[in-house]
Amino acid sequence: DLPSLSEKYKNYFKVGVAVPYKALTNPVDVALIKRHFNSITAENEMKPEALEPFEGTFSFSIADEYLDFCKKNNIAIRGHTLVWHQQTPSWFFQNPQTGKKLTNSEKDKNILLERLKKYIQTVVSRYRGKIYAWDVVNEAIDENEPDGFRKSDWFKILGPEYIEKAFIFAHQADPNALLFYNDYSTENPIKREYIYKLVKNLKAKGIPIHGVGLQCHISVSWPSVEEVERTIKLFSSIPGIKIHVTEIDISVAKEFGEDIDEETKRYLLIQQARKLNDLFEVFKKYKNVVTSVSFWGLKDDYSWLKGDYPLLFDKNYQPKFAFWSLIDPSVVP
Ligand code: G3I
Repeated sequence: DLPSLSEKYKNYFKVGVAVPYKALTNPVDVALIKRHFNSITAENEMKPEALEPFEGTFSFSIADEYLDFCKKNNIAIRGHTLVWHQQTPSWFFQNPQTGKKLTNSEKDKNILLERLKKYIQTVVSRYRGKIYAWDVVNEAIDENEPDGFRKSDWFKILGPEYIEKAFIFAHQADPNALLFYNDYSTENPIKREYIYKLVKNLKAKGIPIHGVGLQCHISVSWPSVEEVERTIKLFSSIPGIKIHVTEIDISVAKEFGEDIDEETKRYLLIQQARKLNDLFEVFKKYKNVVTSVSFWGLKDDYSWLKGDYPLLFDKNYQPKFAFWSLIDPSVVP
């Protein structure tokens, strides 16, 4: 048996993985999950389109299976994600009578706020005490907007208030759950500043937020490890804010394409492994701040990055240099 990753880092942080439902029904996947990971995220199965496909019709059977799996195997579970501009059914933003898009009139705002409240209360209270951390709001910042806020339907109808409300509703439904703001490219200095301001303001207003999720969809060339550390430092300088690395993967194909020869591929996978180990060394340095690190996928061919090699195991379940770098960096060439 391979040495266990979560065991290796147990004095520092949880080591998690995002998996599609099909992985929970595949014995080979299950064995790998149980061996290496002590936290799980549903890759798509706890998003609004999965949980409330039609207004008032909740669909919890698959999500419940994740909970059963985690309970049986003593694995923690992160909830992903309550409020997002993607994978959210269009009925949320439509007038129930006319089917037209809601506006920012008081009446329409109330319709959407009620839906938000009902959704969050139903989902979060169902898993109260079981899902220990929630990504409450995902990807609300867009650094290309003059005010930094993504112009999603949530924003267009409710304004920035939807963010506060989401945290308040989630906290009411499970006062012990850790509540996160989650985003990608958090190493971009301009975006990072917007996120920092947002979270600082939420805290200052007494909104129940406990952490920032760094997705960490990165590549062998960007961002640098130093830039990731700067992000951790900045966000954790806000009192009461912890960090979860929520969706890490390291692309090699983004810059180099899918048609690389074997030599180049080997070289890039070694770079990937070294970078991953350097990152884990930084995460270890911030013990008690970085409390969970989750990979966005179990093996390369499951990744949302098709044709890429961003994860710890290859399509044949073989551990890559990236895996070994986390166990013993001296074995990586
Ligand atoms: O469920 C349908 C299926 O019925 C259909 O046959 C199939 C054909 O394309 O599509 C299936 O839906 C896909 C879904 O994943 C489930 O596999 C969607 O097309 C596809 O767009 C969706 O992609 C997911 C993506 O979020 C959506 O934006 C990825 O799997 C998932 O890894 C990705 O995860 C996100 C995080 O939630 C947030 N941060 C970024 C991260 C990567 O994009």
